[in-house]
Amino acid sequence: MSFIRVQGLKSLQGKIEIQGSKNAVLPIMAAALLHKGMAVIKNVPRIQDVFCMLEILKALGCSYQFEGHELTLDTRDLCSYKVPEREGRQMRSSVMLLGPLLGRLHQAWTCYPGGCVIGKRPIDLHLSALEKLGAKIEPKEDGIFVTGERLSGTDVHLLFPSVGATENVLMAGAAARGTTRIFGAAKEPEIQTLCDFLNRLGAKVCGIGTDVLTVEGKNTFQDVEFTVPGDRIVAGTYLGAVMAAGGEICLTGVPVRHMEGTLDVVRKTGCQVEAWGEEIRAFMRGRPLPVQVCTGPYPEFSTDLQSVMLSVAAVAEGNSQIQENVFEERFATGKELQKLGTQIIIKDRTAFVTGRYPLKGGEVYALDLRGGAALTVAGLAAEGESRIHGCFYICRGYEDICRDLSAVGARVSMEEE
Ligand code: UD1
Repeated sequence: MSFIRVQGLKSLQGKIEIQGSKNAVLPIMAAALLHKGMAVIKNVPRIQDVFCMLEILKALGCSYQFEGHELTLDTRDLCSYKVPEREGRQMRSSVMLLGPLLGRLHQAWTCYPGGCVIGKRPIDLHLSALEKLGAKIEPKEDGIFVTGERLSGTDVHLLFPSVGATENVLMAGAAARGTTRIFGAAKEPEIQTLCDFLNRLGAKVCGIGTDVLTVEGKNTFQDVEFTVPGDRIVAGTYLGAVMAAGGEICLTGVPVRHMEGTLDVVRKTGCQVEAWGEEIRAFMRGRPLPVQVCTGPYPEFSTDLQSVMLSVAAVAEGNSQIQENVFEERFATGKELQKLGTQIIIKDRTAFVTGRYPLKGGEVYALDLRGGAALTVAGLAAEGESRIHGCFYICRGYEDICRDLSAVGARVSMEEE
């Protein structure tokens, strides 16, 4: 088991190249199954969730080459509709295979998906939407069996703009007969990327970027080459690092146009930000100003950056309030932050944080992916040494958080227990 060792109180200086987006590449890998052929996907991050998805695709009969950040997927020999249980349980994104497997093989089986424990995370919206397209859902004790000869396009109304459910319906709709319209669709940038990918594959998706998506079903698709955009959550994490530790950093390969809301929040903490093209330059002197944020579906502030903002609030000059409106159990990291000296009270959906600087180094445990990254950020503003255990959560989504933070001068390293 490995842990991250952080020696805090060193201001940051330098440049980080931002990895490709986890939440964009996973549905793209699933969508590639719709086509019997080749997909070349570039800028793929070398993270655990990608390796897990590759294991699943291999078990389904696909083959691949993954060199550097270029992934070539060959889906011609897809033959199994059963998502292997071990990998399916590791990652919630496995549920995203239901739509494309239904489209290609007319049946799919998956165990109840796993992933980070950040709330109840049901999949009722996925299943009822697939049912609306004509799929038959058979919930079993150990998983779900979904069948349906060619599905029929129809209108689907999502009661909540679920990212995963929108992606699943898009993929099932792309192979259905006729037109599917999704009302109340999620608008996250990763959905827009999936729509772009589906269009390159030969589907016809309209309404991209809005909450009404229309997809015309197709029988056949075509080989595709596609580049995954940079990861806005990883970029936001490193902005959190400079807000907490101070200094001046430059991030490259960032999807700046999808980060306007995040950058507004960053600027309000007193961090100076310049953004152009795919580059962000951030400069922070002194402690951050208090943070007032509410998470919500895009374009609201991302729930994936909530834990990182807790770490920023922990060292802010004054009282911050952070409201979580998407995942009810995402404040678990608050308890770990207390071990580093953070003054935090959690009432229902709101965390009240009284800032202090510096925090004090300690032993903490990552309880989920973004929470683990947030604890690393907090360690940068803590006196002495901090150790963050449970690193495998962080490796699910960050290619090498220690490499990146070291590149800007932080004293961080991953070590064996
Ligand atoms: C995706 C992201 C995750 C991000 C989240 C919200 C990926 C791989 N993961 O997760 O990083 O934090 O979007 O931006 O892209 N819900 C239901 N029933 C459902 C589906 C969802 O009640 O069938 C609820 C969830 O419990 C949660 C909320 O809807 O409270 C949002 O979930 P959703 O948007 O589906 O998130 P994911 O797709 O799982």
